[in-house]
This record gives sequence, structure tokens and C-alpha cells, in this order.
Amino acid sequence: MSTRLDGKIALVTGGSAGIGAECCKRFASEGAKVIAADMNPLSYEDANVEYMQLNVTDVENCSSVVDAVVKKYGRIDILVNNAGITRDALVQKMTDDMWNLVIDVNLKGVFNLTRLVGPLMMTNNYGSIINISSVVGEYGNIGQTNYAATKAGVIGMSKTWAKEFARKGANVRCNAIAPGYVMTDILKTVPEDLLAKFASMTMLGRLGQPEEIANAALFLASDESSYVTGHVLSVNGGMRL
Ligand SMILES: NC(=O)c1ccc[n+]([C@@H]2O[C@H](COP(=O)([O-])OP(=O)(O)OC[C@H]3O[C@@H](n4cnc5c(N)ncnc54)[C@H](O)[C@@H]3O)[C@@H](O)[C@H]2O)c1
Repeated sequence: MSTRLDGKIALVTGGSAGIGAECCKRFASEGAKVIAADMNPLSYEDANVEYMQLNVTDVENCSSVVDAVVKKYGRIDILVNNAGITRDALVQKMTDDMWNLVIDVNLKGVFNLTRLVGPLMMTNNYGSIINISSVVGEYGNIGQTNYAATKAGVIGMSKTWAKEFARKGANVRCNAIAPGYVMTDILKTVPEDLLAKFASMTMLGRLGQPEEIANAALFLASDESSYVTGHVLSVNGGMRL
């Protein structure tokens, strides 16, 4: 077993499925104890991944999960803000409910957890925060006004937190990953022809796999990226947009 995260405590939101699940399994395989915090139960079994129920929009729930992790494991070394959803429509057809829900989960959810965990990391003088943005936050996309707003917002928050949490000499880093189109359930409402078009827009000529995002997250979580902070790592097969 590799040990790039030996003894580390990692909290991954949306860790039950898709990209979050691959991050949990990858981190666990490198020696971390991982807490997969999700609204839904785990879609897999791993002895080093523990499930905690969490809705990132619920401020009290966020607080109780962070408290429970700290009580049990003493600290949080790695936070991956991964939970995210889509509710797509052209802007003139986007309802207030669609707007509010996506903002609540993808933007406010990231804020809810990080304002609790970031200061704890500063106190411990150690931490890596990884926020999952999107190629859509970098370039925009038809039908995704709400989603693009949240994913661009996540980049702004990441750069802000890289500055805030490194104050007073604290060894706390914060980076974002901007995945391209990755084969998970979140794409299940996207028509096949559109997925083929997205694949053809990449230099590698294909969609991504969740493991490929987890590998990037592992780099940012580990000390191999000890001098990387405030960065947006695009993992998109070389998308031309
Ligand atoms: N798959 C892609 O093409 C792609 C591309 C760019 C960015 N992303 C981002 O990657 C992240 C993961 O997406 P995915 O593709 O793995 O999606 P997914 O739908 O496969 O998994 C999302 C997970 O988040 C959980 N979740 C949803 N709302 C939640 C909430 N309120 N509280 C807690 N957990 C919640 C779900 O239960 C699920 O387990 C998201 O932030 C998404 O926006 C995905």
C-alpha cells in the first residue's frame, strides 16, 4: 500500500458516489482515514471510509458532522468540498427554485463547511482544502447559469481562502479543481450526442473518468503539492472552448 496520506484525516462531501467516491477510495488506499459525508448512503465498501450523513445546505448538520469528526479523530487534515448538483435550463426558463437549490448546495454548502474547518486547520497549523469547481465555471455553458455562477464562485472563494487561511504563517492551503466532463450520474440527463460533442472538444478525444479527478485531488491533498495554493487545476483532457 502507498502511504502518501499516511495517518491523515480527510472529510469528503458527496463521497458516496461519482468523483467524491473515487476521492475517498483513492485517499484511503494511500493511508488516510476518510469520512464520506453525503445525503445518500455509500455506493461501495471500504474499511477505511466511514459514512456520515450530511446535507451540506444544513448549517447545523455541517456543524455536528465536523464536531463528530474532531471528537473521534482529533482534527481534519484534508477537506474536499465535492458535493454538487445541476438543475439546467436556459436562463429565461430557469425558475427561482432551480437557481436557489443549486446556489444552496454548490456555493453555500462549500461556505458552510469551510468556515468551520478552515479555522480548525489554522489552529493545527496544517491543512489542505480542495474545492471541486468545473470547466463550466471557467468558460460558462448554455443552460447552466446557476451552475456556472456557483462554480465560478467556488474559484473566487478558493483564492480568498488560500489567502485567509495562510495568515499568521499557517501551513493551510486551498486549491480548486476544474474537471471537464466526467462519466458520473451527474451527466445522466445529458443527451448522448451532446456528450459525444464534449468528447470531441477535448485534445484527448474522450470524456474523463472519476479516478482521473481523484488522482488530481490526491496530489493537492498530499504534501507533494506543499507549495501549491490558490491554484485552479483544470483536469479536462485539454478542452478547447
Ligand atoms: N461529472 C462531471 O462531469 C463534473 C464536471 C465538473 C465538475 N463536477 C463536479 O464534481 C462534483 C461531483 O460530481 P459527480 O459528477 O461526482 O456527481 P454525482 O451526482 O455522481 O455525485 C454527487 C454526490 O453528491 C451528493 N450530494 C448531492 N447533494 C448533496 C448535499 N446537499 N449534501 C451532501 N451531499 C450531496 C450526492 O448524494 C452524490 O453522492 C460536483 O461538485 C460537480 O459539480 C462534475
